[in-house]
Amino acid sequence: MKKKNSWLDDNIKRIAWLGHYAKPEKVEGAIKLDSNENFALDREFITGIAASAAKQVDLREYPLDQMDELHTQLAKYAGVSVKCVAAGSGSDQIIELLLSTLGSRRATVFSPTFSYLINRCKLHSIKVYHVPLEHDFTLDKKAFLKTAKKSDLIYICSPNNPTGNQLDRREMIEIVDSLEDRLVLIDEAYVDFADYSLSADAIKRDNVIVLRTLSKAFGLAGARVGYMVSNEKFVKIFRSIIQSPYPISTLSLAIASGVLADVDQIKQTIRSIRNERERVFARLSKIDGIKIFRSDANFIFIEAGKNYQAISKTLNSNGIVVKLLGNITSHRGCMRITIGTREMNDKYLKCIEQI
Ligand SMILES: Cc1ncc(COP(=O)(O)O)c(C=O)c1O
Repeated sequence: MKKKNSWLDDNIKRIAWLGHYAKPEKVEGAIKLDSNENFALDREFITGIAASAAKQVDLREYPLDQMDELHTQLAKYAGVSVKCVAAGSGSDQIIELLLSTLGSRRATVFSPTFSYLINRCKLHSIKVYHVPLEHDFTLDKKAFLKTAKKSDLIYICSPNNPTGNQLDRREMIEIVDSLEDRLVLIDEAYVDFADYSLSADAIKRDNVIVLRTLSKAFGLAGARVGYMVSNEKFVKIFRSIIQSPYPISTLSLAIASGVLADVDQIKQTIRSIRNERERVFARLSKIDGIKIFRSDANFIFIEAGKNYQAISKTLNSNGIVVKLLGNITSHRGCMRITIGTREMNDKYLKCIEQI
């Protein structure tokens, strides 16, 4: 009989027990408002850039200088030195690399927050402490800091997914500066829709990494391009030692560069999404029986309470897919809906208004 490999067996068993990040299901032909992608950006704009990128690149070669070009463009957009920016295959990949290499053992998050981070911590045997947000999604700073001081890694999603709000800027700086001897990872995936970024603050500190992405505002979720902003010393180590040599395909690099060369188009869509966010918020706030929360992102968090099933059913039968979250802490029947085009938004507003 074959000898049992118990070391491998035990590890596979341990991993099999861990939860995993639940990817959304693809529903053919649906209005897709479950993943905070940017459908307000004209598809032709991206397709045009992708087509010329495909003609321009030579896929037989490894990407070499294209990464430097991307770093230069990202730094210009984020308003920081090029030495403070490092790109990766989506911010997911950067998170994964940080968790797998920095040796963190304990992390603090507020909850609810981005579940991928929590799943990846579990995979790397990092114990996660959760500090619940207040009922209005503000943070009890004292309680948070008390727990944060027990850990070496602190994750703050800003604006937060799924609640949509950004904490007060001054409060964030106070948190960061109270945790000088720890790593504070600030996930700014939705920051392009918000009022402030901590990128310029991160580069001046030793303990802060800001994560950003082209998946949301830039409409490039499929290209898989994310980046970090941090101090020069850490970025140098990340780029040369931690990051793999070719994390982004030549094609994605060329597409990202093409989109970044036309930032005005992106800024215009961001403005239109922010306007739509205000309009959707105003319409939803007139509806009895649901509760909505102020958002600084490209989605809105709704507490539907006892109307949850009816709203979910109606949206589903009208081919509208949203992120159904169920009960979250003391909130009943929650859902997160992406801000899409005016037409898409009107469709779900009508469904909810009917009920
Ligand atoms: C808070 C947050 N961080 C990171 C990501 C992942 O971004 P990327 O597509 O760059 O991997 C997401 C995607 O939904 C997100 O919501």
